[in-house]
Amino acid sequence: MKVISISNIKGGVAKTTTAATLAAGLNKRGYKVLMIDSDPQMNLTMCFTQEPEEGTPSLYTLYDKGAKIDDIKVEIRDGLDLVLGDFELCSADMEFFKKAGSLKLLSKAIKSLGAAYDFIILDTPPNLGFLSLNAFMISDCIVTPMAADSFSLRAVRLLKRTLEEVAEEAEKDIPVAGILLTRYTDRTNVAKLLEESVESAAELLHTDIFNSRIRQATVVQESQIVKMDLFEYAPKAPVTKDYEAFIDELLERI
Ligand SMILES: Nc1ncnc2c1ncn2[C@@H]1O[C@H](COP(=O)(O)OP(=O)(O)O)[C@@H](O)[C@H]1O
Ligand SMILES: [Mg+2]
Repeated sequence: MKVISISNIKGGVAKTTTAATLAAGLNKRGYKVLMIDSDPQMNLTMCFTQEPEEGTPSLYTLYDKGAKIDDIKVEIRDGLDLVLGDFELCSADMEFFKKAGSLKLLSKAIKSLGAAYDFIILDTPPNLGFLSLNAFMISDCIVTPMAADSFSLRAVRLLKRTLEEVAEEAEKDIPVAGILLTRYTDRTNVAKLLEESVESAAELLHTDIFNSRIRQATVVQESQIVKMDLFEYAPKAPVTKDYEAFIDELLERI
């Protein structure tokens, strides 16, 4: 089982889109995949389902009551399950950091899964609090999406420092498998300027940039509105091919 967190402290860089598309793409290739929506904004959840009723078992239930993943996950389709996100997780830092072994709560929860899944894909919030730290603790690697309009080297430095701290706590390396350029348009100067900065970011994170760049395309938002993944909604679209190529590359790297 491989566990992959999609992380960047910046919002709007396609973390959630990448988590959803990666999970759906791996599932389409025959892998058993569990998605965990670790962002209180619940955008990953909303990519696949209607807004859950208040009180529906979610990641919050896992952290709050120690619920088992098997008891709270929902099946999206054969071989693709989801632990729902929850707005209640907005207060996770205040509520759960004080719990004993707070950084290992998710780690404990996935132990009982055994070999049920080939991949766990975690969407994370744009901060490095309780939810991201628990996600990193169980991760074999991180994928960091970056977009031209919201690049920050300071955010990258902070991510690097946090990964090093968590790695010490977890007593294992948590490598960044690569930086994924998203919402990409090569016509703009912004993209060219960005590329240099991203090279330095990659160096800092001891990784490199995926060859595949995810182009900006309206079908992405459309597919999310109708709650379909890109492979169902626009199987022939260039942006879907971009994600296919990214998944090929990622599978080669890990
Ligand atoms: N390749 C793309 N082309 C066009 N729009 C995109 C693309 N990727 C993401 N988006 C849109 O950009 C917005 C932010 O993406 P999202 O995945 O939610 O980012 P994050 O999780 O990092 O905040 C969403 O409205 C999403 O539909
Ligand atoms: Mg998101």
